[in-house]
Amino acid sequence: MCGIMGYIGDRETTKVILEGLAKHEYRGYDSAGIAVIKDGKISELRTTGRVFQLAEKVAAEHFTGDFGIGHTRWATHGGVTENNAHPHMSSDNNVVLVHNGIIENAREIRAELEAQGIKFHTETDTESAVQYLGWVYNGDPKEAIVKLTRRIRGAFALVIMFRDRNNEIWVARKGSPLVVGHAGNEGFCASDPTALLEFTRDVWFMDDDEMARITKEDCIFFDFEGREHEKKSMHLDWDAAMTSRGKYPHFMLKEIHEQPDVVAHSLLGRVANGEVDLSHELSWTAEQIAGWKKIHFVACGTSHYATIVAAHIMETLGNFEIRTEVASEYRYRNIPIGPDTLAIFVSQSGETADTLHAARLAKAKGAKCLVITNVRSSTIHREVGDALITPAGPEIGVAATKTFTAQITVLTLLGMYLAKMRGELSPETEKRLTTALMDIPSKLASILTQEKAIEQTARNFADARGFFFIGRGLAYPPALEGALKLKEISYLHAEAYPAGEMKHGPIALLDKELPVVALVPQGELWEKTISNIEESMARKSPIIAIATEGDSEISHYSENVIYTPKTEPELFPFIAVVPLQLFAYYVARQRGCDIDMPRNLAKSVTVE
Ligand code: AGP
Repeated sequence: MCGIMGYIGDRETTKVILEGLAKHEYRGYDSAGIAVIKDGKISELRTTGRVFQLAEKVAAEHFTGDFGIGHTRWATHGGVTENNAHPHMSSDNNVVLVHNGIIENAREIRAELEAQGIKFHTETDTESAVQYLGWVYNGDPKEAIVKLTRRIRGAFALVIMFRDRNNEIWVARKGSPLVVGHAGNEGFCASDPTALLEFTRDVWFMDDDEMARITKEDCIFFDFEGREHEKKSMHLDWDAAMTSRGKYPHFMLKEIHEQPDVVAHSLLGRVANGEVDLSHELSWTAEQIAGWKKIHFVACGTSHYATIVAAHIMETLGNFEIRTEVASEYRYRNIPIGPDTLAIFVSQSGETADTLHAARLAKAKGAKCLVITNVRSSTIHREVGDALITPAGPEIGVAATKTFTAQITVLTLLGMYLAKMRGELSPETEKRLTTALMDIPSKLASILTQEKAIEQTARNFADARGFFFIGRGLAYPPALEGALKLKEISYLHAEAYPAGEMKHGPIALLDKELPVVALVPQGELWEKTISNIEESMARKSPIIAIATEGDSEISHYSENVIYTPKTEPELFPFIAVVPLQLFAYYVARQRGCDIDMPRNLAKSVTVE
């Protein structure tokens, strides 16, 4: 949440920062701002709204500087106003900074400084940090930042400039992501490495309790005691082209269309000759695996739904004792966790605060931890160590799509691998599922050819009051994900229920203005789900059915059928989710919503 960008070098400072902020906008888009130093003076420009509005202001005012910092905000403390927009400046105009995170003892610091006569100008928690820095600064930035880090509590990525330091940007991190890059005579910092890709692919991921000084010449790293240390850079395996929208009107649509390739990449090197093999990524012995009696899946949002898919599939493969938990709850419950637990954390961004804290807890309690993430070297990856990477490439749309299919691919392989190592996966099942998995990319491609028909269905229902999504067994988790997609980007109320649960209460809501999206694959639960569809029809709810190709009966129950190709029953979630993503996308588009940047949301949720 919130995106930060800093630049020092010979290019046009405002251009680099504005471009960097545009790449960060999915982290927050309530307001944006930029500060530069020129001729020993700090100037800043801020606006509510988007980065393009800031860019218009920058152009209109011929705003320029020698080096600078910028911010795009997801408001936590203080309303969405220009005054609360970052950067924030100390009252003596000597220090300016941008911040991602939450300063928990901001009120206390503010009271202390106000008592010293320092005037505050905003409602933000961030201002306490900059005013404190202004107060303690005596010409030595490092010393002032050390003092600040001792005084503030909470999570922060800070990027700071001091008026009298004409070739220095300082950064400090605890709990919020921050990455630093240097190439030639240019230094950069950003919340998200994708913003640096066009400048350099060799970066340093800042660790907690670490700060750095970035100049044109170099980057030097220190701990929070001010002691200098060496730091190894990492090479990013993404490239700048991956962060462009290409021919698509929205990143979300582009990312939906990337899914056949993403699934294929996720299988690459992990499946061969009808067998699954993860031994080159997980150096676990059969004895170790046998010792993990419990499996905990921990994640948030879409990633959580991917773990529900995984749990359902794994239950069909072996005798696993599995829990799926929302990360923000896992930490605060008294769940038995210990050396007999394999705790699997799933996070697209690898920066989600709830998931990260849950992983720290499980680690501290002696569980074996594994992370499944899309961002190599993200905080959770670095902290947990053991990882399976989802090779989906950067996902820019706030609503996750391709990373969900990548996650369920990797999780399915993991489940198969664990079952195999425990001696519970028969060679026949392994062969059947790996063959079916290898066919998923072409099946997804065939669903994408139905895009026009799905768009039409979406248009027909875009004025509905809300939606129910229902499914049984393995049709239930994709129903959850379909409802979440619709909520996130169309702002329509959507709830998913196990189809059999509707009659226990939610059915009271049904009427002709509340359509039901029924996931009804052919198989043993078809008839039971049809009964639930009948119950909905009896309450006059229009039915949109996601059914299997060749299902000649389904047309008796719905005039709005989206047919999906046949696959093995365990893999239905792969096939079901793509039409639901397209449905949500086109409902939102019909309603004129801001699809890639839905209101109130941010891609990377770095606050608890
Ligand atoms: C998905 O569309 C959402 N943007 C959100 O639920 C997301 O999946 C959640 O915040 C978890 O993010 P992570 O996978 O990066 O940890």
